[in-house]
Order: sequence, then structure tokens, then C-alpha cells
Amino acid sequence: MENIIKDIEILGGEQAPEACDYKTTAEENTGKIKKLYIESYGCQMNFSDSEIVASIMKEQGYDTTADFNKADVIFLNTCSIREKAEQTVRQRLNNFNKVKKARPEVTIGVLGCMAERLKDQLLAEEKSVDIVVGPDAYRDLPNLVNQADDGIRGINTFLSREETYADIAPVRLNSNGVTAFISIMRGCDNMCSFCVVPFTRGRERSRDPQSILAEAQDLFAKGYKEVTLLGQNVDSYKWSPEENNKARLEKKTDEVSTVVTFAHLLEMVAQVSPDLRVRFSTSHPKDITDDVLYTIKKYDNICNYIHLPVQSGNSRVLKMMNRTYDRAWYIERVQKIREILGDECGISSDMIAGFCSETEEEHLDTLSIMDIAQYDFSYMFYYSERPGTLAAKKYADDIPLEVKKRRLQEIIDKQGALSLERNKMDLGKTHRVLLEGFAKKSNEQLMGRNSANKVVVIDKGAHQIGDYVDVLITDYTRGTLFGTVVNTQPIAAL
Ligand code: SAH
Ligand code: SF4
Ligand code: F3S
Repeated sequence: MENIIKDIEILGGEQAPEACDYKTTAEENTGKIKKLYIESYGCQMNFSDSEIVASIMKEQGYDTTADFNKADVIFLNTCSIREKAEQTVRQRLNNFNKVKKARPEVTIGVLGCMAERLKDQLLAEEKSVDIVVGPDAYRDLPNLVNQADDGIRGINTFLSREETYADIAPVRLNSNGVTAFISIMRGCDNMCSFCVVPFTRGRERSRDPQSILAEAQDLFAKGYKEVTLLGQNVDSYKWSPEENNKARLEKKTDEVSTVVTFAHLLEMVAQVSPDLRVRFSTSHPKDITDDVLYTIKKYDNICNYIHLPVQSGNSRVLKMMNRTYDRAWYIERVQKIREILGDECGISSDMIAGFCSETEEEHLDTLSIMDIAQYDFSYMFYYSERPGTLAAKKYADDIPLEVKKRRLQEIIDKQGALSLERNKMDLGKTHRVLLEGFAKKSNEQLMGRNSANKVVVIDKGAHQIGDYVDVLITDYTRGTLFGTVVNTQPIAAL
């Protein structure tokens, strides 16, 4: 079966990935007898979790497969962020009903955020599903799969305050061998009123910095050139001996004796090697510190790119969203980024159109803050009410769908124009690019990213995936820069 990996990178003016795109596991044959197929939906953290799941299952004798017809176990690692994301999974489960009818011995599991949100309701409604497992319960998968083999359907949606899977080495799925994601924390303590994540992922907790560092070192030793540190709110990363005392005592280590903030962690990872690029996502406008910005400035290998979701440009709406910053605060943060890191620093955002009671003027504030922030690209959505969230309890979802869609379109159009303008600025400049893979349109071309996270396409020539090259930008579209290689030395030598 064809491996369905859609490009999840969304460039200026397009829709975000969660609702429609998914990744499947690639074929991996290490001689194991049983086969696991995982389809992953939602955010990068979920894709990263699938790599933990694959690792846990590998210990149990499973290789991954890209073909669910060959699989003994089929997992859907799901997303609940918007209603459409859940509908997509429901439809997909209809397909897997047929697989289950044809091969009753196959085990079907629903994992991730939808499993956590719907719990036993999923088991009741989806007859072909054998197990339902939330994001903090993956260590229980072998047990649940074994029970399913004996015909017992199972569920574990326990949310933990401690689980970070720190000791599990992820099996890299669909890897290009160049870029990888490292999960540095789990959960979220920000109760944004529209958001289901605090309910599906539980309380925020930070992972032991030594295990993060070890993972980065291991990736670099294996030839990887870029790591992205992942968390719902990376700026609130915090590891302290007191807070994390229990884990520290268990490990009988006193290696980390002071508080490690996100700025410290960034620095630690940046020091692994100047040839290892470091990215991170997501930054929260209320928490991003000047310390983090100065750390980015200090290290050439920390990329000049910040994903700083604004959600709305209007202070009243932001207050209702419980984002804990207002328009002026956000603008000040952007100005600080520009002051410390300059105009070339990439900034991207998430926007929600048509939140409860949003007026036309308030919507215009979102359009105007986009102009001020000069986003390179954005993930753009219209509001989708999620059961159980603060907004669902407190506010009427009262903006008609046509209005939401029209406002979203205006936001998308604005972003398209901004992206084009931002890319035009790069014409004639030279950017260092890490080559990640083949370009979408031609196998004669390679694609990579510059520090600001812009996609750059070059003619392949003798260049290799994994090379750093300096590229003179000669052309651009809204979503891509094109150029000619002027230098191919490794980053450290330049
Ligand atoms: N932790 C990140 C966001 C994670 S969810 C942050 O705080 O920025 C990714 C994006 O989905 C959010 O930024 C938001 O723009 C969007 N989103 C979340 N809940 C939504 C909802 N109910 N309707 C529409 N979009 C939503
Ligand atoms: Fe959701 Fe807000 Fe947490 Fe982001 S910071 S995951 S939007 S609650
Ligand atoms: Fe979706 Fe859960 Fe991520 S709801 S966006 S998969 S944290």
C-alpha cells in the first residue's frame, strides 16, 4: 500500500493540519513476527507520542508496517482539538470496521486525545474498537493488547501528574534521518477557554533535562542535524530539584541541582554541537521571556523562528479566551523579538475566527495585529465549540457559520499577502539551509529550511539530504523560496 504521508507543513494562507491530515507508520523490518500499524492525527506532540507507542510495542515483538492489511494491531492516535478532527477519525473507524469483519483477530485501538475525551463512550459506540487508551497510559498497552487477544475489551484513560516517558527511546517513524522531535514536557495548565487540551492531556509536567539532553546527543550521534523541542507551552518548562524530587531520588542522582528553565534547557541542547540545529514549539505570549530571546541570539544553531499564537487581536476576546495577555502585551512581545532578534526572525501564529460574541470590529483587530506582527505564516481556524471547555460552559457559540467562514477567509487572505511580502524580502539574500528531502514537485530538486523556518528549494546537483548549504534566493512564492547554492561547507566551519 502506498504510504500516505501528507505534507503537514502549512504555509501562508492555508488551513492547518489537525483536522484532515494524518501520518502512517513506515515499514520497518527488524525480523519481528508481529506487525503494528499506527495512524496519527493532530499536533506534533501526538506524532511524537506515536514514536513512544511504537517503542513500547517493539519491546513486545512488533515491527511497524505501512499496510494495515498486514497488521496484527491497528492504532489510531487521535485528536480532539476541533469537531472536524473527531469526525475524520469516526469516518476512518468505519473503514476499519470492514477490516475487523474480514479479520476478527486484528486488535484495533483508539489512542490519544479522543480516547481521553470520550473514554468508555468510544467503546460503547465503536464496536470494532478493542482498546481505548489515553496519552498517559501507553505503558499499559502491552497488557491491554494481550487482554484483547483473549477477547477482553479494555480501557485506560488514567491521567498522570508525573508520566513523561523520559526513559523510553522513541522509534523514529517516517524519519528523514535529519530532523527529529523531542518532547520536553506534557500536558497544559493554561485553561484557554476554547481548548480541550488540558482535559485530554492533563496537568503540565516537565521532563528531566538530562534525559532530553541524552536524547539530543543520541540523535546527533546517529546523524540527525536538527531537533525540535516540543511542548504546549515550552516557556513554562521548569525542572527543579524540589518539584521533581521524587523522580530524582528514584534515579539516585543529583546531577541537576538548580532550577532549569526553558532558556537553560535551550542552551544545554544548543551546546550538544554547533552542527545540531535547535527549534522549539509552542511559545506562549504570556510566558516567553527576554532570557529565551537572548539565548536564541547567543547561539547560531538556535533557529531564529518563534511560533507565537495570538488567537485574536482584540483584548476583550482574548480575555474571554482566558489567554491572560492583551493586545498591547502581545505587541510588546513582538517588538521585543524584533529588537533582540531583528526583522528576519520568523514569527508564525494561530488564529481563531468567530469566537463567541466576536464583533466585526474585534475581527478587524485580528487582521490589524497580523499586519503589526508581520507573520511569515499562520495556522488559521474558525471556532469549533468543544464539549466540557470553559467557553462551552460559559458562552454561546453565537457567530453564524457563514460569518465564521467569511472572517476566516479574510484572515487567510491577509496571511497570504503577508507571506508573499515576507518572502519577497528574502530575494537576493543568502540563507543557510539544512536539506531535509526531495522537493514536492521534482526529484531533481531538494528542499530544506532556513533558520526562520522558510521552505527553500534548490536544484539537487551533487547535494545530499542532511547537508547544510548556503543558498542565494532568486525567486519566491507565498509558500516557498527558490535559490542557488553558493557554499556547501558545514555550519561549524563557516
Ligand atoms: N498550545 C498551543 C496550541 C495548541 S492547539 C498554544 O497555546 O498556542 C493548536 C491551535 O488550535 C490553537 O492555537 C488554536 O488556534 C486552535 N484551537 C484550539 N482549540 C480550538 C477550537 N476549539 N476551535 C478552533 N481552533 C482551536
Ligand atoms: Fe490549549 Fe491554551 Fe494550553 Fe495551548 S496554552 S494547549 S491553547 S489551553
Ligand atoms: Fe489534538 Fe491532542 Fe494535539 S487534541 S492538537 S492531538 S494535544
